[in-house]
Amino acid sequence: MSTQPIQPAVRHGEPLLAVRDLRVTFGRRGEEPFRAVDGVSFDVRPGQTVGLVGESGCGKSVTSLAIMGLLPTRGNTVEGTAVFDGEDLLSLSAQQMRDRRGADIAMIFQDPLSSLNPVIQIGRQVTEVMERHQGLSRKEAMPKAAELLERVGIPDPRARLANYPHQLSGGMRQRALIAMALACQPRLLIADEPTTALDVTIQAQILALLKDLVVETGTAMVMITHDLGVVAGLCDEVNVLYGGKIVERGTRHGLFARPRHPYTVGLLDSIPRLDAPRGEALSPIPGSVADNLPWDSACAFAPRCSNALDVCVEKTPAWEGDDVVGLRCFNPMGVSR
Ligand SMILES: Nc1ncnc2c1ncn2[C@@H]1O[C@H](COP(=O)(O)OP(=O)(O)OP(=O)(O)O)[C@@H](O)[C@H]1O
Ligand code: SF4
Ligand SMILES: [Mg+2]
Repeated sequence: MSTQPIQPAVRHGEPLLAVRDLRVTFGRRGEEPFRAVDGVSFDVRPGQTVGLVGESGCGKSVTSLAIMGLLPTRGNTVEGTAVFDGEDLLSLSAQQMRDRRGADIAMIFQDPLSSLNPVIQIGRQVTEVMERHQGLSRKEAMPKAAELLERVGIPDPRARLANYPHQLSGGMRQRALIAMALACQPRLLIADEPTTALDVTIQAQILALLKDLVVETGTAMVMITHDLGVVAGLCDEVNVLYGGKIVERGTRHGLFARPRHPYTVGLLDSIPRLDAPRGEALSPIPGSVADNLPWDSACAFAPRCSNALDVCVEKTPAWEGDDVVGLRCFNPMGVSR
């Protein structure tokens, strides 16, 4: 991998992906439909890494699966637009979307084992992508697949090509999955918790690898994570999701230096700090998403919020901001009333 220094964030130019007012509603038999994603909008530019951050169940994966056209369609609705290079992905047919996936757009899924085919050798799985999208023969693709495995840090790549997924460790499998995503030279890469299942050292290696890629190739990346540590190391811009809505957006530096939304502050306070005095307790956010109020008539976070005002259980806080910085809160932190 390249050791060149990491370049500053690229913010100029048109977005490669512009998501607007994305809404995903799941129909549930005998129950009210459930809105998992509720009016999400964000942009990603070439060479930029944009984070989607939030606790389990806040709608991170559903957002990415909706953009990729991978949600089950029966009984569910996806609304809004996701314009990629001038074309609304949400209006494409299943076949057109299949052609985009793996060609211009690739995704690294949350669970590497379930995203690799257990009965097909790793080499074959990587070359298949190249045969399909680059028009290479299997013979031409094999050495390139070995090169890619080497690039993602898999030792002895030629031997690994013949392995089945279960013969690789968790870290190797995740790397193989990244190699497959790279095999199609995507312009947009969506990485959904690519390192959650891995130990800390491998996690750091894989994040560095992804960062290098974005810098070297100008790929636009959406990084989905519940871990603000990952955001700190990787993302240029961050969107904090709560209950299916973006509640705060900022640059990485702005958000860490001056978080405004009480939920963002809660997430930051629950990160273990190396410089904290030994034995100092972390402050996890009280309550759980099960306590959420409906966004239609309140701030969903109000039952868990130490800053809540009466208005927070009476009205929906509006989004105030733009595509770089923004906030959805009646009583932000650091603002006295
Ligand atoms: N196919 C589905 N049908 C019904 N509800 C779903 C479906 N997929 C997800 N959900 C619900 O949508 C909400 C958001 O789920 P999502 O998978 O996006 O969460 P997440 O933010 O990715 O969480 P995690 O960090 O655990 O991966 C959850 O309440 C989940 O139960
Ligand atoms: S709108 Fe109110 S309840 Fe919601 S986060 Fe802001 S202060 Fe807390
Ligand atoms: Mg998820």
